[in-house]
Parts: sequence; C-alpha cells; structure tokens
Amino acid sequence: MPALLEIPESTAVALISDTHANLTALEAVIEDIAKKGLTQIVMLGDIAGKGPRPAEVLDRLRQLEIPCLFGNWDELLIRRLVETSAPEMPSMTEALEWQRAKVGLERLEWLRDLPYALDIPRASGLVRLVHASSKGVWSRVRENDPLENFYELFAATPEVGLDAPTPLAVGYGDIHTVLVRHLRSFPENNPSLRGKMVFNVGSVGNPLDSNVPSYAVLHGSSNLEISFIRVAYDNELECSIAKKSGMPQLEEYLEETRTGMYRPRGLT
Ligand SMILES: [Fe+2]
Repeated sequence: MPALLEIPESTAVALISDTHANLTALEAVIEDIAKKGLTQIVMLGDIAGKGPRPAEVLDRLRQLEIPCLFGNWDELLIRRLVETSAPEMPSMTEALEWQRAKVGLERLEWLRDLPYALDIPRASGLVRLVHASSKGVWSRVRENDPLENFYELFAATPEVGLDAPTPLAVGYGDIHTVLVRHLRSFPENNPSLRGKMVFNVGSVGNPLDSNVPSYAVLHGSSNLEISFIRVAYDNELECSIAKKSGMPQLEEYLEETRTGMYRPRGLT
C-alpha cells in the first residue's frame, strides 16, 4: 500500500519534484513556499542526479522532514545496493559514479528505502502521488501520450499495492513538465475513471518546459483544487557552482539550467 499522509483537511500541501541536486533552485522554492505560509511539503522523487550538490539537497529535504518518494535517478544511484530494474547507461557511468561518491553510503541507503507512492486522503477523494506512474519509476507518462496511458496512473499495481483504492487524482513528476488532464472521456470497461484528474508538478531543479522551477499546491479545500507556481531563481549562480564542482557532463547541465531544454542524450 502507498505511504499515507493524514493531515487536517484545511492543510494545503506544496508538491515539489525532481530537485536533481540543484540546491540553488530548491532553496528558492522552499523560501517561496514558506512565504506563502505553507507548512506541509511532499517531494515526488529524483532528489539527486544531474546537478552539483546531491548530498546537500538530500540533507536539506531530510532536515525539513519532508516526505519523499523514490525516483528513477534515485534507483540508478542505488544500483550497487540492491537488484534493480534500472537500465544500464554506459554513457552515464562517470556521472553516476560522481553522484554516488558525493552522496555516500548512508544517504544511498536512505534513498533505497523511500516509498513508491503516497496517498493523501481528502473529503473530496484520495490524492495519490507517484514519481512516474503507478507501474514504477521507469514507466513514463509523457505530455502527448494517448489518454490510455493516463488511465494507467489509477491502476492498482504491485508497486502501489494490488488492493490500493482508486484515487480521485494522481499527481506525478518525472517528465519535468507541468500539466493537468481531466479525464472527461473514459474507457467503456471502466466508467469509474470518469471525472478523475491527473496533474504533473514539473521540476524544481531541472525544469524542461521553461527554465523556471515549478511546484504545485494541493489546497486545503473541500473541493479538489490544484494550482501551479513558478519561482524564478538565480540560474547563473547555480551554473557557477556547477563549474567549480568538477562534475561530469557539465556542459549539458549548464545548457539545461540556462535554457530549460532537454539535453540530446540522457535522462530526465
Ligand atoms: Fe527527473
């Protein structure tokens, strides 16, 4: 079963994802969340990987006691600790080794134990959070995918639990792109999906629909209300930190950070 976050109905939740070792962006987003008076945050995975400060980002999330989900980059990093379904990435070996060395064993073990899904019960219905889909961290649902792929986010699977209840809404990260889908049409054999909602919170540390980080707010309301917020930050400060870090694949990181455009080869 998914982890459960039981909070008062009136408590709004800031939903962040895909920090990807970009501490500059994370601090800007945390500051914005605090300014808005939001006290509850949930993180949807891909904490480390890509950027120059993976350990610092992970420590900051732990310091703030933010519930975190497991992402595909988190799985890549723990390959040595457990059998994983993470694909072999020869072109990424050097970058992954650099990230693992920065993160260290204790943090890798913490990443290993993160849950795949988290449910937030609301009066309007259950809100489920996953990194990529209900089928696991490598099952990607892209913005322009057919509607059938969005239906799968609501499935009870071994990853979220075969007896998991069907949520009203599913929020995810992974594709680094903000989106909302209202399932106004639904499969004939499953009318229960009518009226469900899917949303993607985008990315804090590696947005690819803009170069400006995003997060979502699940409002403390008797109706299901989601809004999205962009937080401009100092991209060039992050680039200067990356340059001094000695990280592999620096040029790709600088380009993505400055432009918000996906590198030709690599992973989200
Ligand atoms: Fe990611």
